[in-house]
Order: sequence, then structure tokens, then C-alpha cells
Amino acid sequence: MVRSTCKVVVRLKPKDDPLDTAVQCIDNTAEPTLLVRKGADDDGLYQFSFTRVLNATSQGYTHEVCAREIVTSVLDGYNGTIMAYGQTGSGKTYTMTGPENVELDDSEMQGVMPRAINQVFRELKRRRVPDFKVSVTYVEIYNESFRDLLVPETKSSDIGVSERKNVVTLKNVSTPKCSTAAEAMEILKQGQHNRHVAGHGLNVRSSRSHTVFTLWIETIDADGASYAGKLNLVDLAGSERYTKTGAEGSVAKEAMHINKSLTFLEQVIIALSKKNAKHVPYRSSKLTHFLKDSVGGNCQTLLVACVWSEESQLSETLSTCRFAQRMMQVTVDAQKNKGGMSSVHGNLFKLDPVMQQYLEQMTAAAVAREKAKLYAEFGRRGGEEEGLADDLAPQEFLELEELRKK
Ligand SMILES: Nc1ncnc2c1ncn2[C@@H]1O[C@H](COP(=O)(O)OP(=O)(O)OP(=O)(O)O)[C@@H](O)[C@H]1O
Ligand SMILES: [Mg+2]
Repeated sequence: MVRSTCKVVVRLKPKDDPLDTAVQCIDNTAEPTLLVRKGADDDGLYQFSFTRVLNATSQGYTHEVCAREIVTSVLDGYNGTIMAYGQTGSGKTYTMTGPENVELDDSEMQGVMPRAINQVFRELKRRRVPDFKVSVTYVEIYNESFRDLLVPETKSSDIGVSERKNVVTLKNVSTPKCSTAAEAMEILKQGQHNRHVAGHGLNVRSSRSHTVFTLWIETIDADGASYAGKLNLVDLAGSERYTKTGAEGSVAKEAMHINKSLTFLEQVIIALSKKNAKHVPYRSSKLTHFLKDSVGGNCQTLLVACVWSEESQLSETLSTCRFAQRMMQVTVDAQKNKGGMSSVHGNLFKLDPVMQQYLEQMTAAAVAREKAKLYAEFGRRGGEEEGLADDLAPQEFLELEELRKK
């Protein structure tokens, strides 16, 4: 077990006025620091320490600092979350996916999500992993309802959080498998296209929902040991003040839901940051319930706190910094998930329930014979990827392989 705390990287959005010195950062020291002026007529400063503070950094460098290590650890079988948080228009979507009107596969401008996809498949190839399985889910929480961004026609009321052995999954969302980075990128693009966005006074393409793009990665090493990790990439919607955004109608209603769910997220982080908190209010919102196993605990977690550096946004910048400081007190006890995907995702790679019941009723010998038959019928021989056997966990494949030899 690796015990640590959540990491926080603050990213400043470039400012228009170089003379505006309201927010300053000092990064190249043992203690990266953000200095925030108290107010227009006050020379006093608030001082915050973070894991890193980034000012005017490229998308590539930001990925190196925020994501590379966590993505690598997911390939080793740990769970990881990279979550962008901050006021509306502060650069969360820019950081997680890339700027608007730029293709996701633009190698210079692409954000953490497409870079993580590329890193995963490049690393799998470099490590020469004998066998692996990658699948993705992409959902948004819009006005306190789940939407499957890959199959948007799915009824929201059919999608729900399921918890089993401290593992959180979503019922009735699509989980396509991908064998190449190009396939995963296509899925990301498709989901991106279906996301809710709208314009207001502080952002012409403001995210109106929280989105979570998850990569489920299972690897089998040369000794046949399987490890499974999930990587959550979260682009939250930003907090909004109506006086600044001028939001009206449906945009104002969305803002109400966004602000409310961010308040619940803050309450969860406050509880998690306390030692021996008696109750963590995960069930207060869809977002906090869904993220229950993805913030701290058995999950390497990094928050990218995005801030404006303009004087006009000082109070929101301060509130982001305070949330981010809390996050740094949340403990992480990450463990490798051995034994395949079923250890991180109860719903994936599971036998059909009728078949499961049938198999359970039989004697061990009969089970062995039946499994061998199933394998012969639906197995992956000759590169065939479809059929029931494809839904078996990799350790079941190995087991069946052994049975066939007998
Ligand atoms: N680091 C950056 N460098 C250059 N432009 C940036 C940067 N961060 C954000 N921007 C620009 O600022 C605008 C708002 O960014 P973005 O949409 O990412 O904000 P957001 O935090 O996702 O806001 P919302 O909460 O409303 O979705 C965009 O035009 C984006 O291109
Ligand atoms: Mg956004």
C-alpha cells in the first residue's frame, strides 16, 4: 500500500493585462507557492502552497506534470483520478481536452484526455504486455441527471450508481472496448460532441455538465498475473456568479445545479480532509456518489485547480485555492488491484447471470467440462474476438486454457 495525500497543481489562465499583478506564482522552489493579493486597496497577500503552480505552460508540459505519473500507475494496476476544478472560464476544459475549435488529435494543443489515451497505448506497446483489455465509459451529469455521452438516447432514469465491495460503477452505460489509441480517440470525440455547452458572459463555450471519461485497463504479465486499474478523467463544470455571467433561462437553471453540486463536492472534501470524520456525505449528489471511490482512498488523485489571474476574479480565485488546500489534506491509500477487472469493475467481463447460475449448480468436474466446451465454441482461437468467451475475465481464459490441455 502506498500512503500519501492528494496532489494539487494550480494552473493560471494567461491574463490580458501584464500589469495586473493580483495573482503571482513561484514554482521553481521546494515549496511551490501562489500569492493572491487581498484586494484592490490592500497590499496584504494570501499565501498558498501546492504540489506545483503552473503559469504559461504548454499543454504537453501540463500533461507531464499533472498526468504522466498517474497514467503510468494505472497501467501498474492502481486506480487514478485527474480532476479539473475551478471557476467558470478558468481553463478546465482547455486543460482536460484542449481549446475549442481545435481537433482532439492536434498533437500540440490536445489536453490531458487525448494525451492519456496516447500514453496508455504507447506504454502498453513499449512494455510488450502479453495481453490487455482497455474499455471506456464517458458520462456527464447534467442538471443532476446522468447521461451516457456514447449512447445519449439512453434514458437518464435507467442509469444509476451501483456500489459493490467499495467499487462504484454505473448501471446501463455503454462500455466499448478499444484495441488502439485511434479507436479510443474516436469514442472520446463522439462523446465530446454530445456534451452540453452554452455561452454566457465569462465563457462562450461553457460546460453545462460535469463529465467523467474513464479508461478501464486490465493487463496480464508474462507470469499470467493480472492487474486492473481505472483512470478517471474529470472535467467539472465551473462555479458561476449570475452577476458576472449574466446567465438567464436554461443557462441560469444549469448554473443553479452546477453550484449546488459543487457545494456538495466541497462538503465531501471537507469531511475527507478531517481525521476520523464520522460521516462523509457521498450520497448528497450524483457527482459525489459517483466519485465515491475516485477521490483519495484507494485512488491516486490529482486536482488541477484552474484559476483566472485577473484582479476582477480575486474572490473566486481565493475560493478555488481554499478548496484546493483542503484537497491536499485528503489521504490516499492506493493498492494494486490484483486479479483482473472484476476487482475494480464488478459489472464488466461477467458471465451472463443465467449461465452463471447454471454453472454454479453443477459439480466441479462438470463445470470444468462445460467451461472447456464453452471455450472451444466461443474461444479466441484464430483471433476471433466475439462471443461469450470474450466476456470472461482474462484469468478465466487462462483457466480454460489449462482445462483444455487436460
Ligand atoms: N491556459 C490557457 N491558455 C490559453 N487559453 C486558455 C487557457 N485556459 C483557458 N483558455 C481559454 O479560456 C476560455 C475558457 O476556457 P475553458 O472553456 O477551458 O474554461 P472552463 O474552466 O472549462 O469553463 P466552464 O466552467 O465554463 O466550462 C477558452 O476560450 C479557452 O481557450
Ligand atoms: Mg468547461
